[in-house]
Amino acid sequence: MPDPWTLRYQGFDPVEEGLREALCAVGNGYVVSRGAAPEAVADGVHYPGTYLAGCYDRAESRVAGRVVANEDLINGPNWLPLTFRPAGGAWFTGPPAEQTLELDLRRGLLTRTALVVDARGRRTRLVQRRFASQARPHLLALESTFTPENWSGPLEVRSGLDGNVANTGVARYRGLTRRHLVPAGQGADGEGLLWLEADAVDSPLRMALCCRTTAAAAEPATECREGWAAHLLTLNGEQGRSVAVTKAVAVHTSRDRAIETPLRASRLLAAEAGDFEQLLAEHVLRWAELWRRCGIDADFDGAGPLHLNLFHLLQTYSEHSVDLDVGIPARGLHGEAYRGHVFWDELFVLRLLNLRFPELARAVLRYRHRRLDAARREAREAGLRGAVYPWQSASDGREESQQLHLNPLSGRWLPDHSHLQRHVGSAVAYNIWQYYQATGDRDFLATAGAETLLEIARFWSSAATYERGRERWSIRGVLGPDEYHDAYPWAARPGLNDNAYTNVLASWVLARAQDALDVLPGYRRDELRERLDLDDAELERWHEIGRRLHVPMHEGVLSQFDGYERLAELDWQAYRFRYPDLRRLDRILEAEGDTVNRYKVSKQADALMLWYLFSAREVRDLLRHLGHPAGHELLRRTTDYYLRRTVHGSTLSSVVHAWVLTRSDRRASWRYFRDALVADLRDSQHGTTAEGVHLGAMAGAVDLLQRCYTGLEVREDALWLDPHLPSALGRLDLDLCYRGHWGLGIAVDRRTVTVSLREDRQEPVRIRLRGTEATVRPGETRRFHL
Ligand code: BGC
Repeated sequence: MPDPWTLRYQGFDPVEEGLREALCAVGNGYVVSRGAAPEAVADGVHYPGTYLAGCYDRAESRVAGRVVANEDLINGPNWLPLTFRPAGGAWFTGPPAEQTLELDLRRGLLTRTALVVDARGRRTRLVQRRFASQARPHLLALESTFTPENWSGPLEVRSGLDGNVANTGVARYRGLTRRHLVPAGQGADGEGLLWLEADAVDSPLRMALCCRTTAAAAEPATECREGWAAHLLTLNGEQGRSVAVTKAVAVHTSRDRAIETPLRASRLLAAEAGDFEQLLAEHVLRWAELWRRCGIDADFDGAGPLHLNLFHLLQTYSEHSVDLDVGIPARGLHGEAYRGHVFWDELFVLRLLNLRFPELARAVLRYRHRRLDAARREAREAGLRGAVYPWQSASDGREESQQLHLNPLSGRWLPDHSHLQRHVGSAVAYNIWQYYQATGDRDFLATAGAETLLEIARFWSSAATYERGRERWSIRGVLGPDEYHDAYPWAARPGLNDNAYTNVLASWVLARAQDALDVLPGYRRDELRERLDLDDAELERWHEIGRRLHVPMHEGVLSQFDGYERLAELDWQAYRFRYPDLRRLDRILEAEGDTVNRYKVSKQADALMLWYLFSAREVRDLLRHLGHPAGHELLRRTTDYYLRRTVHGSTLSSVVHAWVLTRSDRRASWRYFRDALVADLRDSQHGTTAEGVHLGAMAGAVDLLQRCYTGLEVREDALWLDPHLPSALGRLDLDLCYRGHWGLGIAVDRRTVTVSLREDRQEPVRIRLRGTEATVRPGETRRFHL
């Protein structure tokens, strides 16, 4: 990154192409389109994917002798195709002789500058600019400017829409059904518009694109066949003179609101779209608004990746996502990894959004609330009560985790038990409570939040069984965040008992459910209790379970799950020697005929997640509430113990470790922070970014600056601050939105914390800073010495 607002790639590198396409994607929360070259097709090097939020297709596949069903985020029709040739030459199919890609993060504009030399030595300069409008979410634009360097003559351009696309972006999914879209019509109309319709194969979903091509050229010819519509233009190529072609493409789907048909809506929009500069100007204005709400000023050399991460987050989820009924897909809308599904990763994202874009956080929670009935159904089918959210969620909220997954190292399809990660429900509950704390949005709590929270609490209560002898409640048959362990090596059935993270968090959920009832207005509390048939006896049971869930310990640390101590130690030295990268140790061991279940190794933070979600003091209180006298040492010991055995096979791992090490080892914390910050930029999980960015790590890294190093928490109707700046960070300045108002400024340096409130705010803010309590009033600035 030559400057903090520009991502630049010089030259063409087939090995890095996938990564660049993902990181150069342009989007607006409705649609994201990878930064593939307009002349490229999916050929193993290039992958021109375009994804529309919430557009999934369910299809069956036969693998390993079984029929499995998967719901995939559809790779939509390709709006980009554009190529050219000096008359008589061959169509340019890439790669160019020279190329620079430049992504302007401030303006959301991707510029490609290239030199194309044809077989007869004719050199043409090409500049292509594109964006997905943040002002008009259904509009994408591509402008191509050609400058013949050493020739003159007719210049032919072919600009098209391609509906003959498939989901082929992830090699591991090769054995699965990949066609999710079938062409449903195409053509060109009198007003010079091209159109194309395509239907999802198995889901009732239609997409329609309409393209207006503008150029100083004679009437274009058209080329239409099934799933393809193109304009053929002949321009006047003149040595040293630039000619431009602009393509404005509108896209709608049958999921959209306020339209008659997707095609009609796309026609209207494409027909009225202004010229490229006009469209760009309104788009840039919106980005300026977005950046104003991302005020984080940190004096370190990572501003570039910081902006890049925020940029991709706001391209995936924006104001244009709010009415779409979509969650935050773990891998953005940037590729096909994890099929565009929604995991617990929003836990890492919403903590950031709550204090900047609370309306987006609310939309994500609404997506979950709309699927409460599906979560209730899952619980019922498991023979339990309440609601259990799916580990992977997509269109209707049923469990979308795959039943089988492929180990590319062994070539074997293996049963997948990740749906037993029931902790995802607690993440939803946590997000609801955090959102409420940050915004004070009682209306949301009363209409959707509390109901969801109560049903999640009810699920935990019904999942808990009483263990005689131990005289404790137990939650059996689950998986923790460390999904390497999905069964005891000595057991026939999948699932583990009493995952410490799951149990402590369940206890917290049971307590917050009661708190949520307490803060509701009386009439609403009564209504909800009546509606949910929630009597005093059940609340009493929640209280009892919340205090007496089993929390396993061994060697003075929290056990990841009950019986963890019986697992074997891995011969780390031998494995490190044999394999340069252990991040997919699960696959390595399986390919060797062994299983990761036998060993004390973790993919990512598990028990330590508790200190990621809660302050050390809160964790102590939670454990004491559960009857465990937890001392100060527990965090240090537990961190040391697991850190030595963790391979960081998920980008989320660095975020959590950076957080939990803040107070004990600032240098290590900073190292993990840096890893998380550049996880996608550097493609640290080797090749995975090409299949989609890692939004949890992207947002989580920014949140480390926003909340971890400032010690910023929102709870008990106050803002808590407890800064611990790493030595590489001299100063942090934040501009936040708290409880419905913008203009809360927090500036931290080594010696002081300054809190200011803009005049136009109505309520004062309560601050708790290391034992000090203070109130900051509107228009006031207060400085605290550390
Ligand atoms: C991680 C999960 C995460 C998922 C999606 C997996 O590799 O282990 O914790 O939710 O990726 O990002």
